[in-house]
Amino acid sequence: MFMIVKKERLTPLVYRMEVEAPRVAESALPGQFLIVRTEEKGERVPLTISDYDPGRGTVTIVTQEIGASTKDICSFEEGQSFADVVGPLGMPSEFVGKTPEQLAGQRYVFIAGGVGAAPVFPQVKWLHSRGVPVDVIIGAKTSSLLIYKEEMAMCCDNLYICTDDGSEGFHGMVTGLLENLVLEQGRQYTMSVAIGPMIMMKFAALTAKRLGLPITVSLNTLMVDGTGMCGACRVTVGGKTRFACVEGPEFDGYEVDFDEAMRRQTMYRSEEKEAGPHICKIDIRN
Ligand code: NAD
Ligand code: FES
Repeated sequence: MFMIVKKERLTPLVYRMEVEAPRVAESALPGQFLIVRTEEKGERVPLTISDYDPGRGTVTIVTQEIGASTKDICSFEEGQSFADVVGPLGMPSEFVGKTPEQLAGQRYVFIAGGVGAAPVFPQVKWLHSRGVPVDVIIGAKTSSLLIYKEEMAMCCDNLYICTDDGSEGFHGMVTGLLENLVLEQGRQYTMSVAIGPMIMMKFAALTAKRLGLPITVSLNTLMVDGTGMCGACRVTVGGKTRFACVEGPEFDGYEVDFDEAMRRQTMYRSEEKEAGPHICKIDIRN
């Protein structure tokens, strides 16, 4: 159970793993996440689901080595098993609950920053398979850090690439490219979805607001239990406290207090460094 059936390195620090988890695969939907523990008493690491295949009984996770626990996950090889994979957790993306009539006439643009391209993928696939027009922007610091280009190209209408250093595609950040598409190239959208670093989602929301475009963001908050009991994942949305693990992770980007969310994200950073892999906190959903 929870055996890694396939492992690939996507960039020097980012790995994709297909993991046996039939019950999670059977009920997973775009937008949801799961919690992985490499050993019985290990840290509970929340990771967004990057794909799921009920036929094969597998789910796919994409993990960036950015701390002790993600390094631990990435060190697992094909044939080895995680102690626990719990999910699917959180609410599915809002469009999953829409009828074909409600989806008719919609045109989505997804804004994926860095590793955020992985959780964008199942959402794009879901909409594309239902005939909803979808454009995708993928941004990364440099060309070699772009992920999911080929996969995304196969299930979207238009794929737009940008890099901070101009090594591939548009020279600039995802927000600059979104503005360029709408203001310079006259692309029209009814909805946008941004997934990536918190700072990117903050500026994507500000940009979308300026363009009059609604936006959903997926919040990678601190998480501990992932079931609405501990309060670690609390965020302020529209002036109200919400729990990202059970009420999210997706929220209306106009309403999120990103500055507070970013402060909370860094709250345990020094403790994590000191404690190595054993501290009970998590802010590393990739
Ligand atoms: P990164 O820092 O390389 O940024 C990726 C892209 O985001 C950049 O190329 C740029 O286009 C855009 N961006 C970054 N800062 C921006 C700003 N201030 N304004 C506008 N655009 C900006 O990304 P990375 O290193 O791949 O990201 C890793 C982080 O993403 C981790 O902290 C991880 O937790 C988070 N993440 C979050 C989710 C989620 O569910 N929200 C999913 C995956 C990864
Ligand atoms: Fe504990 Fe959300 S992670 S309430």
